[in-house]
Amino acid sequence: MNTHQLKESITVIINNNSTVSEKLQSICNFLKHEIEYYDWVGFYFKNGTKQELKLAEFSGEPTEHTLIPFGKGICGQVAVSNKNFIVPNVEAQDNYISCGFKVKSEIVIPIFSNNKNIGQIDIDSHTINPFSKEDELLLEFVCEKVAKIL
Ligand code: SME
Repeated sequence: MNTHQLKESITVIINNNSTVSEKLQSICNFLKHEIEYYDWVGFYFKNGTKQELKLAEFSGEPTEHTLIPFGKGICGQVAVSNKNFIVPNVEAQDNYISCGFKVKSEIVIPIFSNNKNIGQIDIDSHTINPFSKEDELLLEFVCEKVAKIL
């Protein structure tokens, strides 16, 4: 992974002249395209005052899990833990919401705005155990950039 190059491209997307929604969509498309083991890339945000996440922009197969209660699944757990969550093998997780039999692993990184957990980036992979510290650092960078344009 050429993290430096990827971060530069993310910065270009963030600074371009499009709407927030277009930028989030471009980031999803870009990451899914550039990193071969990223098979689904999406953003979930807190749904108003409700204790649930709502799917925003994504790239990959449509999912029926457009609303996820806090505490449910990997995403819902990150909404309450405020911590990165790497799942090398989803079959080993009890509190997991499946988005299809092809998905083998997942990484979720929270997005903070004014120290509040307001959403997250979620990546599904069809590969077992593909995520490393590099993914975590890249995705933390993405989340910090995204927080600034919301
Ligand atoms: N697997 C997630 C649900 C969302 S999908 O991956 C798009 C979870 O367990 O929270």
